[in-house]
Amino acid sequence: MYHKNKLTKVLSLTLALAFSATALNAQAKTFKVAVGDGAGGTQHELGKKFSAELKERTGNKHKAKLFLNGQLGSEQDTVNDAAIGTLDFSILAINNVTPFSPSVGILTLPYMIQSLDDAVALTQGEVGKELVENTIRDAGVRIIGWAYSGFRVLTNSKRPITTLEDLQGVVVRVPKNEIMIDTYKAWGINPTPMAWSETFTALQQRVVDGQDNPYITNYAMKFDEVQKYITNIRYLFSIEPLIVSEAVFQDQKPAVQKAILEAGEAATQHSAAWLKDQEANIKKELASRGMEISDPANGEKEWIEKAKTAVWPKYIDSIGGKDKLNSVLKSLGREGV
Ligand code: MLT
Repeated sequence: MYHKNKLTKVLSLTLALAFSATALNAQAKTFKVAVGDGAGGTQHELGKKFSAELKERTGNKHKAKLFLNGQLGSEQDTVNDAAIGTLDFSILAINNVTPFSPSVGILTLPYMIQSLDDAVALTQGEVGKELVENTIRDAGVRIIGWAYSGFRVLTNSKRPITTLEDLQGVVVRVPKNEIMIDTYKAWGINPTPMAWSETFTALQQRVVDGQDNPYITNYAMKFDEVQKYITNIRYLFSIEPLIVSEAVFQDQKPAVQKAILEAGEAATQHSAAWLKDQEANIKKELASRGMEISDPANGEKEWIEKAKTAVWPKYIDSIGGKDKLNSVLKSLGREGV
């Protein structure tokens, strides 16, 4: 009796394994992953971890090949390509997803996210789940992982900036993101919207004087070669989702879908730990390469007031209304508006 039961169990297990191997084998392929940033950044780290986890979880059958430095197109173009299924995956900054799915703007409202803990709470909690659903509906892409990249600091080649007065006359590149454009307008300048893939050359040729991105991104993009000054503004905590084409995702067998989702989750956990480990060292490294770092004057008070007063009311509807905003603020332990 015991042997019969045992044999049945072994047979079922063998059949189950054979079934899942067949399910995985059926579509064995190498997925293409567009990555906006260069090697050594948070996007790259998320992509490497995702790729390793996917390979392991599919018994080496499915691979993810990373194409760094915007080789597969500008970050916003990769959203379009994934939506129509000509690209499998992309890792890009959240601000480049907002134009396709406005409610994602909750993550790019100036001074909304005040720490890595806020970023983790929003992306991995109820808000994150809702944004995943909205992005599938609006943009045809599914967010399956998040890289956490730290605050976007302002860099420029002209002069040290600590006050809004210092900022006047500096030509700053921003992503094609209305919330960010309006934030700079609230600070008194007209920024230059430009694709990420064109930014290094524009800084090098002095078409623009500055830009903002996190320390790790500035390092991965070698911006220290073309920028001298850093201002530690904290208006946006950069979050960089890993998206998969919903068409490509739906085309996969359930076992592969499960592996993709689990690999994305493992990569997300890794990203938060990696940021904590790396950011301070990279800041030191940029300083040792000659970058001059300053803090905004008066605890950034003027920057915060101007941005929140002008930008928040304008985008309340697009991010889901006042009640939505207040429930998000409450979930972060903050006062409503
Ligand atoms: C941008 O500035 O367009 C993005 O934040 C760049 C990035 O993906 O790191």
